Amino acid sequence: MTQTILILNGPNLNLLGNREPEIYGRQTLDDIAALCAARGAELGFEIDFRQSNDEGELVGWVQEARGRCAGLIVNAGAYSHTSIALLDALLACEVPTIEVHLSNLFKREHYRHHSYVSEAARGLICGLGADGYLLALDGHRRALDAACG
Ligand code: DQA
Repeated sequence: MTQTILILNGPNLNLLGNREPEIYGRQTLDDIAALCAARGAELGFEIDFRQSNDEGELVGWVQEARGRCAGLIVNAGAYSHTSIALLDALLACEVPTIEVHLSNLFKREHYRHHSYVSEAARGLICGLGADGYLLALDGHRRALDAACG
């Protein structure tokens, strides 16, 4: 059975392409979704790529991933820095999670230096733009292969 990787994008990431391009680049979220679908197919994954501006909707999607998805990739946008609800959902769902941010959080404002999502994540990739999503897919492939022996 094909393994599903759920890729969740939080608030304002639907604006990519126009949103502060000097920080986030010119690629749209649809561009990133297409790149992830292509890399996912190469790696044998089915990609479920979603975005929401609503914290509760993101929490619901994480809850539904339990037992359904082989891995999660989460760019929770600003909710990374505020949402204990999302952290709790990630801890409860027990799906291996890799956190991604387009920008390098640690070169930015102090309030972006802490992420609740990180406390539930296997690893964190930030500052590499859309490549971060693709590297996270590679990371999930390697971990799943290693777990299968
Ligand atoms: C972001 C970084 C967050 O601090 C910010 O709120 C975002 C985007 C990133 O991908 O670099 O919305 O998650």
